[in-house]
Amino acid sequence: MSNYQKINQQYKGKDIISLQQFDTSSISQLFETTKHIITQLNTNTIVPYLQNKLATLLFFEPSSRTISSFSASIKRLGGVTIEYQNPLETSSAVKGETFEDSIKVFETYSDIIIIRHFENGSALRASNVADIPVVNAGDGYGEHPTQALLDMYTIHQRFNTLENLTGLIAGDLLYGRTVHSLLRGLSFYKGNTIYLLSPKRLMLPEKDVKEYTKLGLKLIQIHDEEDIPKNCQFWYWTRVQKERFAIQEEYEKIKHSFIITPNLLKNQGNKNMIILHPLPRVGEIDPRIDSDPRAWYLSKQMKNGMYIRMALLSLITGAL
Ligand code: NCD
Repeated sequence: MSNYQKINQQYKGKDIISLQQFDTSSISQLFETTKHIITQLNTNTIVPYLQNKLATLLFFEPSSRTISSFSASIKRLGGVTIEYQNPLETSSAVKGETFEDSIKVFETYSDIIIIRHFENGSALRASNVADIPVVNAGDGYGEHPTQALLDMYTIHQRFNTLENLTGLIAGDLLYGRTVHSLLRGLSFYKGNTIYLLSPKRLMLPEKDVKEYTKLGLKLIQIHDEEDIPKNCQFWYWTRVQKERFAIQEEYEKIKHSFIITPNLLKNQGNKNMIILHPLPRVGEIDPRIDSDPRAWYLSKQMKNGMYIRMALLSLITGAL
């Protein structure tokens, strides 16, 4: 949407709603800041760029990793948090308070709002009523920008570039918000080819295929694990998003369409690739894969989440 404010290497005071706000220079700036934070963390447990700042974490949808990653990031920056999970069950929203009013309430207490919500577009709605920065921590099956930025940082960490890559994105491409943000991010860089593996019911929407293709991504849709080319540099696996299904039997039928097993990795993988997953996984990666040095999902990828969020928060609050 056109009303997303572009970053243009000026993060201070900006909302982070969509990857549409970014470009390669702003992403490079974020990566450099992330490296700076990592260096600081080698010798310090707290890097006080958010001292005297209060962030509200408003999570209308379940989360363990993202909320704790944000929470850890803020605390390691010396900031403090109000953490509100499931507000629809416990807050004034139960009494009928509107979403907009709730955002106004938290705006008065905080310097920044980090929001996760089950409706697409909700972070944008929040940013329209709040005068402090709002960060989208996942809106429905829309976007999940901080996840995509950490995914891209992780891919960059391994290959030292985000150009001319061949990768595979597998699983729920219809409802997977991390996939939507990641594809948009990868489309900023030239020469990328992405294989999309999904059940037919969960294909990337046609309008997205068209848009990302226009932006320069080469997308190849496949529906069989045997069609994964052996030269992928990364596999980005995702779970089928159970909570987006109205009919649970439908979910049950396709939830394990594609599973990474030692055999699949042996037959379709290669020695230089990495395996990523935004987590949680629910059966789509065999735990025997976890000890493989190419499995980065429980180690480097997750750690980078905290680092990237620390960098992003330091930039939007103007500390860096
Ligand atoms: C993802 C999300 O919430 O979209 N999780 C996360 O933030 N790491 C992926 C998912 O839930 O499947």
